Amino acid sequence: MNAPEFFMLEAASAISAATEHAAAVARLCAALDAAFDACRRPSEPDAPTDPSRHAAFAKGVRAALAQALADPALVTAAQREGSAEKYRRHLIAADPNGRYAIASLVWQPGHASPIHAHQTWCGYAVLEGTLTETLYRWDEARGGAQTVRSHPRAPGAISFGASGRANIHRLANDSTAPCISLHVYGVAGEQMATHVNDIVALVL
Ligand SMILES: [Fe+2]
Repeated sequence: MNAPEFFMLEAASAISAATEHAAAVARLCAALDAAFDACRRPSEPDAPTDPSRHAAFAKGVRAALAQALADPALVTAAQREGSAEKYRRHLIAADPNGRYAIASLVWQPGHASPIHAHQTWCGYAVLEGTLTETLYRWDEARGGAQTVRSHPRAPGAISFGASGRANIHRLANDSTAPCISLHVYGVAGEQMATHVNDIVALVL
């Protein structure tokens, strides 16, 4: 194969990968849009509601994440790159109406989130590797979180939580291999770093 032929094949491969990624993103967005549609009240189509209070919404987001896990083109090679310092977040897509943002999180061994509740609904699925999730109970009197239990979250694990301090957790990569998780948050893309986590203190 001569050099021009090689570069043409490389370019065709890159275009194909980008097309498959765009299609996978479109499928996940369509599934999330369907979850919103499932909890809309026909009598009040424009009423502001918290969709995460509807069972149909949680079911729809879980189904969207399950479908996404089976879509290998969804997370690109660039969106699988980690950082030595702390877990790294890559924005994959954001709803044009500001209702959700989709991100991959890359966890190297030893990386962990802070203990946090959420300012909005969120769902996540483990794509590669195993995360350790620790759950906490909010202690109103002492103004902090008490540890309840920890459990491993292997590839395929899917979780959904509403906003508020009834759902407090911490995710950590306690393994010796990198881990990648897929997250959906109920915020606009530009709010992902500032309007999702509600960091709380641990009380013993
Ligand atoms: Fe979280």
